[in-house]
Amino acid sequence: MDMPSSSANTSKVRIAIDGPAGAGKSTVAKMVSDLTGYVYVDTGAMYRGLALAALERKVDLEREEELLTLPERCGLSFRWDTGRFRVFLGARDVTEKLHSREVDGAVKAVAGFPLVRQLMVKMQRQIAASDDVVMEGRDIASVVLPDAEVKIYLTADFRERVRRRWQEMVLKGEDVPWDDLKREMAARDEADVNRKTGPLVRVPDAVVIDSTGKTAREVALTIVRLCEQRKVMG
Ligand code: DC
Repeated sequence: MDMPSSSANTSKVRIAIDGPAGAGKSTVAKMVSDLTGYVYVDTGAMYRGLALAALERKVDLEREEELLTLPERCGLSFRWDTGRFRVFLGARDVTEKLHSREVDGAVKAVAGFPLVRQLMVKMQRQIAASDDVVMEGRDIASVVLPDAEVKIYLTADFRERVRRRWQEMVLKGEDVPWDDLKREMAARDEADVNRKTGPLVRVPDAVVIDSTGKTAREVALTIVRLCEQRKVMG
């Protein structure tokens, strides 16, 4: 499948935020989006939407060719705006269902397939072609928008990342044992880093921000200041 080159992009500003699970990417990216007015794109939610569709349809997660036909069969679509990114299956808004442990477990397999990634990358570039974006994920600076104006690699201590995820689940009423979550997150980190296509990498020109002990607002303001320094804001 042909993918449009990211250099065809006409948008003024693209902020790419990559990093491991629990580094605070979503919270920070939403905040940056609210502060700048740029569109927020949660690429993890795109992979999660496909994983949820596969679970609902009981599609074998090892069969890439079946996964590839799912977006059309299930009417997988996305709506984006400042500070909001929603995922739909047909007319159903499934955004709130994307962070269950079941989806956490399934998304690893889904995101590992090269053709699935190619499809997602194509959609992600299309979004960035028409809007200023704050896009977060794993391969944004390395693959999706390699010429993004601002590239951030957001990380945090492993223990802190597990704690954030655990807190998020407790708040949603999901009772998950700490050690299980720790194991699952370590496995997801490993899959992210060792994936053959689109692995999580820190590109050389990314600014590294460690969010351990920092509030999301502090991190978001650092990113907005970086944008201003680079004189890329309108
Ligand atoms: O950021 P997240 O936890 O919502 O991401 C969900 C999964 O999707 C995670 O296992 C990594 C994968 N992912 C990816 O492979 N590439 C991206 N650009 C974003 C997410």
